[in-house]
Amino acid sequence: MRLLFGLTVVAKLASAYIPAWTAPGPDDARGPCPGLNTLANHGLLPHSGRNITQADLSYAMSVGVSQDETISIPLFEVAVTTNPAGQANTSFNLDTLGTHNIVEHDASLSRVDAYFGNQLVFNWTAFQRTLEEWQDDVITVNSSAAARARAIRHSNATNPEFGLSDLAKGFSTGESIAFILVFGNVTTGIVETSPVVYWFGTFLSSFASPTSVSFRFLLLYWLRPNFV
Ligand code: HEM
Ligand SMILES: *[C@@H]1O[C@H](CO)[C@@H](O)[C@H](O)[C@H]1NC(C)=O
Ligand SMILES: *[C@@H]1O[C@H](CO)[C@@H](O)[C@H](O)[C@H]1NC(C)=O
Ligand SMILES: *[C@@H]1O[C@H](CO)[C@@H](O)[C@H](O)[C@H]1NC(C)=O
Ligand SMILES: *[C@@H]1O[C@H](CO)[C@@H](O)[C@H](O)[C@H]1NC(C)=O
Ligand SMILES: *[C@@H]1O[C@H](CO)[C@@H](O)[C@H](O)[C@H]1NC(C)=O
Ligand SMILES: *[C@@H]1O[C@H](CO)[C@@H](O)[C@H](O)[C@H]1NC(C)=O
Repeated sequence: MRLLFGLTVVAKLASAYIPAWTAPGPDDARGPCPGLNTLANHGLLPHSGRNITQADLSYAMSVGVSQDETISIPLFEVAVTTNPAGQANTSFNLDTLGTHNIVEHDASLSRVDAYFGNQLVFNWTAFQRTLEEWQDDVITVNSSAAARARAIRHSNATNPEFGLSDLAKGFSTGESIAFILVFGNVTTGIVETSPVVYWFGTFLSSFASPTSVSFRFLLLYWLRPNFV
């Protein structure tokens, strides 16, 4: 089943002419959103991760994740508010998206709260809490919600500056289902766990974990070298 899934994704990527994955360079901006980071790594968004216009985002979301402008334009309008003065509000950067408490928020699935450290980068400690709720072969809407609830409980209990604005609550909910919609089955609300975990960035970190399931990730990596 997993093999079949891998091959299906390879076929989908090949047929959509998605440019190959290339690692971000030292001057390329990346941020708290694994979805947009992926689109930039594939060059569907500017590989620099900077000066992303509405046309850029609409193109990338259309080709990359089959979403039309009823989704990409409202998201662009929010994203552009993270743009520091000087760019005239017509573009945003992937890193400025991570400015705390505009869109970026506490209680993320794979990032620490800004209070504790760099909220822009994948953090294994934070993601391990999420994996506690994702021990089955598939993630359901329920287990995704459980991970989100766990992150909120953890942040509320440990972060003296914990907060979630109404905008953040909306985003946090959307982020918890985005990967089900993109990688999974929209009808059942179910997605295979391993590609999602791989996508979040555990592929490299998993080698350092005592509970490593790196063989599985390695297999996925070979099957789908252009995926993330
Ligand atoms: C390509 C489709 C997209 C997918 C699959 C996606 C998925 C995700 C996921 C799963 C997270 C949660 C990360 C975590 O909690 O550790 C996230 C975070 C985020 N996304 Fe996206 N996203 C997409 C597009 C966008 C767009 C268009 C925006 C523009 C506003 C955006 C802004 C953000 C921000 C600011 C965060 C950080 C929130 C936080 O954890 O503090 N994303 N995204
Ligand atoms: C692109 O974004 C950078 C900030 O990352 C800014 O300094 C530069 O002026 C922008 N370039 C254009 C053409 O808007
Ligand atoms: C960007 O747009 C927002 C909302 O429309 C506005 O509040 C802000 O002042 C603008 N910033 C710049 C630098 O133009
Ligand atoms: C991840 O977060 C933990 C806990 O806040 C911190 O100790 C660790 O340094 C972070 N790791 C990275 C790679 O940032
Ligand atoms: C998901 O959670 C809801 C509410 O707790 C529960 O009614 C439902 O049976 C759960 N579904 C599955 C498939 O576990
Ligand atoms: C945070 O914890 C407090 C005290 O236990 C509780 O009253 C509050 O509802 C919690 N907030 C969230 C968002 O879970
Ligand atoms: C999603 O699940 C439904 C119900 O099990 C199934 O009929 C459908 O073929 C699945 N869709 C995909 C794309 O796998």
